[in-house]
Amino acid sequence: MCGIVGYIGYREAYPIVIKGLKRLEYRGYDSAGIMLFDGKELGISKTKGKVSDLEEKSKALASSKATIGMGHTRWATHGVPNDINSHPHVSNSGNLVIIHNGIIENYEPLKKELIKRGYTFTSDTDTEVLVNLIEDVKKKDNLKIGKAVQIALNQVVGAYAICVFDKEKPDEIVVARLGSPLAIGVGKDEFFVASDASPFIEYTSNAIYLEDEEMAIVRLNKPLKIRKIKDDSLVDPYVQELQMNLEQIEKGGYDHFMLKEIYEQPNVIKDTYRGRLLANEGIIKMAGVEDNIEKFLHAQRILIIACGTSWHAGLVAEYIFEEFTRIPVEVEYASEFRYRNPIIHQDDVVIAISQSGETADTLAAIKLAKEKGAFVFGVCNVVGSSISRETNAGAYTHAGPEIGVASTKAFTTQITVLTMIALRLAKAKGTLSNSDFHRYLQELEVIPEKVQEALETNDKAKEIAEKFKDASNCLYLGRGYNFPVALEGALKLKEISYIHAEGYPAAEMKHGPIALIDEQMPVVVIAPKQGHYDKVVSNIQEIKSRSGKIIAVVTKGDIQVKDLADHIIEIPETSDALSPLITTIPLQLLSYHIAVMRGCNVDQPRNLAKSVTVE
Ligand code: F6R
Repeated sequence: MCGIVGYIGYREAYPIVIKGLKRLEYRGYDSAGIMLFDGKELGISKTKGKVSDLEEKSKALASSKATIGMGHTRWATHGVPNDINSHPHVSNSGNLVIIHNGIIENYEPLKKELIKRGYTFTSDTDTEVLVNLIEDVKKKDNLKIGKAVQIALNQVVGAYAICVFDKEKPDEIVVARLGSPLAIGVGKDEFFVASDASPFIEYTSNAIYLEDEEMAIVRLNKPLKIRKIKDDSLVDPYVQELQMNLEQIEKGGYDHFMLKEIYEQPNVIKDTYRGRLLANEGIIKMAGVEDNIEKFLHAQRILIIACGTSWHAGLVAEYIFEEFTRIPVEVEYASEFRYRNPIIHQDDVVIAISQSGETADTLAAIKLAKEKGAFVFGVCNVVGSSISRETNAGAYTHAGPEIGVASTKAFTTQITVLTMIALRLAKAKGTLSNSDFHRYLQELEVIPEKVQEALETNDKAKEIAEKFKDASNCLYLGRGYNFPVALEGALKLKEISYIHAEGYPAAEMKHGPIALIDEQMPVVVIAPKQGHYDKVVSNIQEIKSRSGKIIAVVTKGDIQVKDLADHIIEIPETSDALSPLITTIPLQLLSYHIAVMRGCNVDQPRNLAKSVTVE
């Protein structure tokens, strides 16, 4: 969490840093700060609140001609969000300035030691300890800033992506990473540093992603040198050509990123299967799977690890893998898996799912699975992310940047990738009939058109949202493949509208949640024609007898549920196994409209951040 930006070059730094922070605000938005250096004076401004509040507060800095600057947008870990705890933090001498994404776990003993040595602290943060530790190391042995950073980092335990500026070395910024992402944009006579490449996409398409335990001194008119923090050895910089473009990270006329991303789904699902799914030839090919096909085919078990929405995609995949491949599947919250001494066999295949590729719990679970000898396959969206590098092999989802904090297109593209893997294995194992295999390929190919059709439920979703926007609770029910969709629908509603919502397997309702149903309770039931339709109809009847308000997602042309439900949303027909790709669309739209009508900040819901790099 937290976003960091740095610039050093010939352009005015203020607008670059502010614009960069706005693009990184998805990473944290409870406070923000900026530092500029114009060759004489340090200009620092920081505030509780969003980057727009920072702009308001920093008017005096806006006209600065400084060509070196750094900025930070925060998601609080140590110390409440307030002006003082906001970054940048300055060392006691006033010379060193730091911005930091991550956590210094051993900051307390370090702080005690520094206090004994006469240092004072104004904030409650671990970051202020780090900048003073660097200062102390630097002073003790009269070191240059780069060396001091290196020595200090070898004393800390935790995670960091940092930028450190020293007034005595005003033509450089020292950067380092361990566990939090850090990209360096390499332009002509200028460098950019950021948590991801979005802040510098319009200036350069050349980026270097630092690996864990690496640092660099970003220096004007000097080639970039990357070193290992531990042993000082030099690393060859690997300059990547960025795939992202400016249009992808702007709202493109939509009121919110979330809505834009919901509407992008037909296209991004196509991007996900492009070149991998050749329906007419009856072929599925994904390099990461082909290269490791024996591992998959000999798997006695597939273990899926993920968090949040990605975990829900994993649950959908459990149904698909077991049905198509007959390989037993277990789906685990990464945060539980990593702390429970799990049993992992050599012939288990572990699939880790993550949009950001930076989720700390998922990353730690992957490391644990690898230690225990498992082969780990990643399904990630962000190219070059920590998880994509840590896994043994993987497949990208190609959804493009997802900026709205609530995950939408990541979910459907993850399911698309996982479905393709299951189909590829089913073909090799002969666990699906030839005709079913070909039918699924054809159906998957036309899913984008059906998603497009499902998006036409927008007006209906809005009309229903108007009726239920003031609800204080909501129940989501689904069976089989659509049980995880019920969980995902409930998560979407609670995280952006702050209405309490729960997802349940429809049949499980009578074992407890039915007690909640009265005439005030909206119940969203996912009831497509395929699957366990008759059973779901019975569940709907049970709700109706208790006066619950039924909102049903049904297949176009449905008559039975239409007669029972208070509201219906009609979606196009597809097979049961692929239906989550369609049924999830109206639920995303419903949550979106309810949140907008309640005046919530849809793209940046309270207390959340897009990538959860702390456990
Ligand atoms: C919900 C949401 C989160 C993420 C979770 C995992 O809308 O976005 O629940 O799904 O934090 O994130 P990734 O997929 O980046 O590992």
